[in-house]
Amino acid sequence: MMKRPVTTRKVRYLASLSIYLLASTISNAQAADKEAGKALYKETCARCHSKLIGRKITGSPKLTNTDEAYITARLKGYAQDEHDYTDEKKYKQRMIDTAKSLSDEDIKNIAAYLSSK
Ligand code: HEC
Repeated sequence: MMKRPVTTRKVRYLASLSIYLLASTISNAQAADKEAGKALYKETCARCHSKLIGRKITGSPKLTNTDEAYITARLKGYAQDEHDYTDEKKYKQRMIDTAKSLSDEDIKNIAAYLSSK
């Protein structure tokens, strides 16, 4: 009976500690997604889509619609050889190949990053 308050405090401490750890794991995972997306975008996409010279040479559109759902749909579409554009350009094939090389996780991360810009 004398020990009960201590035990209760311990239990409370452990409970709040695990809630804290859970919360920080979740928020870290969200931050990491965007960071991973940013790194991947810079490494894989920026040379065509962000750089003026890259856009001129490759005919890549500036990504103006960065809505998460839109980016996801476009990337999944390219990965399945679907696209709205009619003229065949070699960089379009590179876009399709790039989309095919991305995992679902990569697409999610890139879409999260672009929509947050
Ligand atoms: C080799 C150059 C190149 C690379 C690398 C590249 N793209 Fe593209 N991208 C293009 C071209 C060219 C188009 C237009 C294709 C067409 O005519 O359908 C395009 C189209 C798109 C579109 C559709 C734009 C719209 O307005 O509908 C999205 C979204 C896109 N790319 C995202 C990405 C992302 C994200 C990456 C990196 C994972 C990437 N691209 C890498 C060249 C590239």
